Amino acid sequence: MAARGKATTRRKSGTGSLSQNQSLALEARYYIDEEIFKQEKRLIFYDSWQMICHVNDLLDVGNYVTGLVADQNVVVIRGRDGVLRGFHNVCAHRGHELLKGRGNVRNIICPYHAWAYSLDGALLAARHSTEASGFDSSCVKLASIKTEMFCDLIFVNCNPDAPSLRSQTLGMEDKVRRFIPKIDDLKHAHQITYHVKANWKLLIDNYLECYHCVVAHPKFKETFKIDEWKHTSYEVHAIQGKIDPRSPADPKNPNYTYQSAWWVWPNLFIPRFPDTNSLMVCRNIPASVEQTTQIWDFYFAADKPTRAQKEGIEWIDKVAGKEDLDLCESVQRGLHSIGYSPGKLMIDPEHFAGWSEHGVWYFQQMVRAKLKGSEKRQNPS
Ligand code: FES
Ligand SMILES: [Fe+2]
Repeated sequence: MAARGKATTRRKSGTGSLSQNQSLALEARYYIDEEIFKQEKRLIFYDSWQMICHVNDLLDVGNYVTGLVADQNVVVIRGRDGVLRGFHNVCAHRGHELLKGRGNVRNIICPYHAWAYSLDGALLAARHSTEASGFDSSCVKLASIKTEMFCDLIFVNCNPDAPSLRSQTLGMEDKVRRFIPKIDDLKHAHQITYHVKANWKLLIDNYLECYHCVVAHPKFKETFKIDEWKHTSYEVHAIQGKIDPRSPADPKNPNYTYQSAWWVWPNLFIPRFPDTNSLMVCRNIPASVEQTTQIWDFYFAADKPTRAQKEGIEWIDKVAGKEDLDLCESVQRGLHSIGYSPGKLMIDPEHFAGWSEHGVWYFQQMVRAKLKGSEKRQNPS
């Protein structure tokens, strides 16, 4: 991954000098090897910003939303002082999970032995603690994690030293707000969850290229022109969309596209719903090395979708989304073939064209860089 915390968000440079080998797809072991998956959890997921919810899901004191950072159960909750705090969702006594789903609480009470925590994570009470020996309640508190609000979405990061997401994606938030000016007014209106039989990276690979679009999405042929579609990768995010005829077709110009779809490293999609006052976010949470939980959240002006919005959701659910998940599951099966070795990615030297797989290449290079030095096993093919 490129250096973080630059003063401006830098577009990734072209691959003109790359050798053939450097633009081959990731080896199959990255998608099926348990050891690599374990390393990914530690080196990628516990060290990246993971979206949990929209800020409007946490408006009132005591509102909380739980979520997953890969296999780590976490919770974000609004304190009595109005501050949003993130915690590992685990009791400091013997490890019972504390809160489920989303809701509102006055204090956090563990369902096992009823230790009680305030909304800022301090221990309020533990039954029989005055009679028990050697108990110092002042030393007990919930394990906290970093939180950040970005594009009115709440993210967490398990790495206490992580640089802010905003500092790594300069320019992105302005652009999202330009496309969705009322993003701060939106309400959670719908959620769809898919259990996908594919490694999480296959879902990202698939989202970061439109080389497959006219082949694998027959309906796209009616309206979609690949020559108008562009894709630009930045430090830890990417933007794809149609060229805006009102802006110069300059990839360095952050306003060069409309109908944009964003990706945020490593596993978040923000594909714009075809409606200016809405937000659609898609989290790809690894459940195991070959299974991913994909969660789509839809935020609209009202907390129920309109008829047109329902039709849009249905189209994503039954057509485009399903087709993409079928593709990913087929690739997952294919990667077990002893007859497969990684193929060449089709890359536009300018790193701009919609047909190109340069977004996949950037993502896979970031994965390689994160795992560098942690691998022991060789490519079985
Ligand atoms: S595990 Fe939570 S009170 Fe015992
Ligand atoms: Fe697709």
